Amino acid sequence: MGDNARYGPGFIVSIAVMLLVVALPARGDDSACFECHGSLEKVRDAASAMELALDDARMARLVAAPMAEGTSHAGMACVDCHAGAEEVPHPAGLAAQNPCAACHDDAMAAINQSAHRDPAGGTTPRASCWSCHGSHDVRPAKDAASHLSPSHVAGQCLACHDNRDYLEGEHGHALQIGGLDFAASCVSCHGGHDIQPHGADNSRVARRTVSKTCGTCHGRVEQAYLKSVHGAALSDSNNPDVPTCVDCHAAHKTASARSVRFRLDSPQMCGHCHANKQMMAKYGISTAVLETYVADFHGTTTELFRATSPDQPLNQAVCYDCHGFHDVESTRTMGVEQVKDRLLVRCQVCHPKATKTFLRAWTSHYVPSPDRYPLIYYVRLFYVWVIPSTVGFFLAYIALDVWGRRRHRRVS
Ligand code: HEC
Ligand code: HEC
Ligand code: HEC
Ligand code: HEC
Ligand code: HEC
Ligand code: HEC
Ligand code: HEC
Ligand code: HEC
Ligand code: HEC
Ligand code: HEC
Ligand code: HEC
Repeated sequence: MGDNARYGPGFIVSIAVMLLVVALPARGDDSACFECHGSLEKVRDAASAMELALDDARMARLVAAPMAEGTSHAGMACVDCHAGAEEVPHPAGLAAQNPCAACHDDAMAAINQSAHRDPAGGTTPRASCWSCHGSHDVRPAKDAASHLSPSHVAGQCLACHDNRDYLEGEHGHALQIGGLDFAASCVSCHGGHDIQPHGADNSRVARRTVSKTCGTCHGRVEQAYLKSVHGAALSDSNNPDVPTCVDCHAAHKTASARSVRFRLDSPQMCGHCHANKQMMAKYGISTAVLETYVADFHGTTTELFRATSPDQPLNQAVCYDCHGFHDVESTRTMGVEQVKDRLLVRCQVCHPKATKTFLRAWTSHYVPSPDRYPLIYYVRLFYVWVIPSTVGFFLAYIALDVWGRRRHRRVS
């Protein structure tokens, strides 16, 4: 009883304030910070006590809570990242410095080798550590709640990069909506600390390396592709014209390869290069392949579907039914008999009764001429000349007849 009389409320408060001031510099005790940063109310009081005019948004940002259990830095002192904050009013530049670099210098060094480097080689990269990892809620990237987990990471990157079409592609869809965490995120294709512009040789998405990047998940596709006429030309001689995975599938808005539309559009996709005279001249490859395809029975129907009912499944052969897609081979080096054997198997998928004779019913990509498919050439020639002449003859005949009858009537 007597003790309480000796130490009144005023005395207790002054002791508490003294303790607070003594405790401030001690690492690990953040309570002093929360006196002013613990709630919006406290921020407001501190600002008015310090005669600072802060707007509401700024005050809301100044609210801070102890770091949650399970985050990487839980238990770390505020001043470990905010050195100098013990001083009140705080010294200028508290927010400008990069506090992460001091403890994670290897990460900082790696970032400075990437597209996000600090142009001056310092500790303020173009994408700050916390723009990817967060600041007060850092977790290991593998943690599902981390800002960098497969389903969250796009949100971080898209805050600065305009690649929203990724969200409409198969991968974005699978991750964001399907919950398929092993589909490709921005990081699985581009990397994290080692992101490079795609023109750089060491980029994971450079022409020459992108198939390997895709191949980490689509391994067998990559193997087939590397052996194909396209893939081999890329890996052997860094050929700039052959397609990589993303020329056929797009980098971000990757469409389902099994969709009707993808199939219907595919002749134009192959034709984009194979009807390009300048490009194909380099390899001595015929550019008639697209027009001859479009002119024959399979292609005519395909083009008709594409124009009129693009969502209706197509049963006609497209380029890759005959040539394959990841395993496209050179028909020129294969030899006629081998081409026919391979081809027949492929025709039989849709024409089960087809034999080698059936193959002859088809003019391949050749425009019939007196040397190749002469019969068809002359039959066509016959039609080209005989039908118009026959029709013309009849018209002339009718005209003459009408004229003759009129004259006859007048005379009589
Ligand atoms: C006496 C009240 C008070 C205490 C104690 C206090 N702060 Fe602050 N702090 C403020 C105010 C007010 C601002 C806003 C200053 C401004 O905008 O000019 C601020 C700003 C900050 C900022 C933002 C700096 C910037 O430039 O954007 C950080 C970070 C910060 N405080 C951290 C801390 C930490 C860590 C502690 C504990 C070691 C702490 N503060 C203790 C009042 C306080
Ligand atoms: C691991 C490092 C780290 C620790 C530990 C840390 N902070 Fe921060 N804090 C940051 C970073 C980085 C930012 C900047 C975030 C941004 O700009 O979006 C920040 C921002 C702030 C801000 C807002 C400043 C502004 O201008 O938006 C306040 C206030 C703050 N911290 C207070 C604290 C307090 C109080 C603690 C202790 C509980 C603490 N911080 C612990 C890294 C840290
Ligand atoms: C005072 C030193 C220190 C500072 C400053 C610091 N960290 Fe850390 N960080 C650590 C320690 C220690 C760990 C725990 C390492 C472990 O568990 O292996 C850690 C863990 C991490 C992890 C998780 C690593 C893992 O494998 O679990 C990430 C990510 C991380 N820090 C990023 C940051 C970022 C971003 C900043 C700046 C906002 C930052 N750190 C500031 C010391 C620090
Ligand atoms: C462009 C986004 C980005 C930036 C900027 C970035 N990181 Fe990372 N960081 C990642 C990703 C993604 C990972 C996960 C590993 C991986 O896939 O590369 C990672 C991994 C880490 C790890 C290893 C622990 C873990 O979570 O697996 C630490 C530590 C780390 N980063 C610290 C930093 C620091 C410090 C900075 C700033 C110098 C920084 N990071 C900047 C994206 C980033
Ligand atoms: C804070 C903003 C910011 C964030 C977050 C960010 N970046 Fe960047 N990124 C940049 C800037 C700025 C450049 C440099 C652009 C330039 O040089 O024109 C860049 C460059 C790049 C480049 C090279 C392209 C080029 O034009 O040079 C790629 C690829 C890239 N970032 C991917 C990512 C990915 C993936 C993520 C998420 C893991 C990410 N970025 C997060 C700002 C950001
Ligand atoms: C399936 C792999 C893949 C995914 C997932 C992916 N990208 Fe890309 N990205 C690429 C490829 C390949 C390129 C190269 C350019 C091209 O071929 O269109 C590229 C190009 C870029 C560029 C331009 C780079 C430059 O040097 O000009 C940026 C920026 C970029 N991507 C950001 C992102 C962001 C942000 C995400 C996530 C929202 C993302 N990417 C997801 C494969 C991918
Ligand atoms: C010349 C164009 C072309 C190239 C290059 C190409 N693809 Fe394909 N890809 C296709 C076509 C056409 C299909 C559709 C096959 C079908 O109807 O099932 C396909 C199908 C796919 C599928 C669906 C699964 C399957 O096998 O049917 C995946 C996954 C795929 N490709 C990934 C890749 C990857 C990874 C690469 C690079 C290593 C690549 N593609 C290179 C044209 C291409
Ligand atoms: C991290 C693993 C991963 C990487 C890297 C990756 N993919 Fe995929 N990809 C997937 C998964 C998983 C799916 C299945 C998504 C679904 O269908 O829901 C998929 C689906 C696809 C499809 C659609 C297949 C279909 O059946 O229609 C294509 C095409 C494709 N990926 C191409 C690529 C290309 C091209 C690259 C490289 C630029 C690439 N992928 C990189 C995991 C990956
Ligand atoms: C019905 C099967 C079939 C279809 C559909 C088909 N091709 Fe062919 N293609 C062949 C055959 C057979 C050959 C070999 C012709 C020969 O040398 O006798 C060939 C040859 C080629 C050649 C080599 C030309 C040369 O100069 O040697 C290219 C390139 C080609 N096709 C591309 C395409 C493209 C692009 C499409 C779609 C627009 C397509 N093909 C559609 C069966 C087909
Ligand atoms: C980005 C351009 C591009 C696209 C898209 C493309 N190709 Fe090619 N293709 C080439 C080039 C260039 C060569 C020549 C490679 C060489 O000979 O080194 C080639 C070679 C070929 C050959 C071998 C010709 C021969 O007999 O030697 C065939 C067959 C072929 N492509 C079919 C296709 C088919 C089918 C598609 C669509 C599924 C397709 N290509 C898409 C560029 C392309
Ligand atoms: C993806 C399925 C598919 C493949 C593969 C295919 N065709 Fe066809 N083909 C069709 C369809 C569908 C028709 C139209 C049938 C009809 O209207 O009666 C057709 C029609 C034809 C016709 C017209 C005569 C007829 O029977 O109606 C010939 C000739 C023909 N195909 C040759 C070939 C040859 C040669 C191959 C192999 C190089 C081949 N086709 C591969 C689907 C295919």
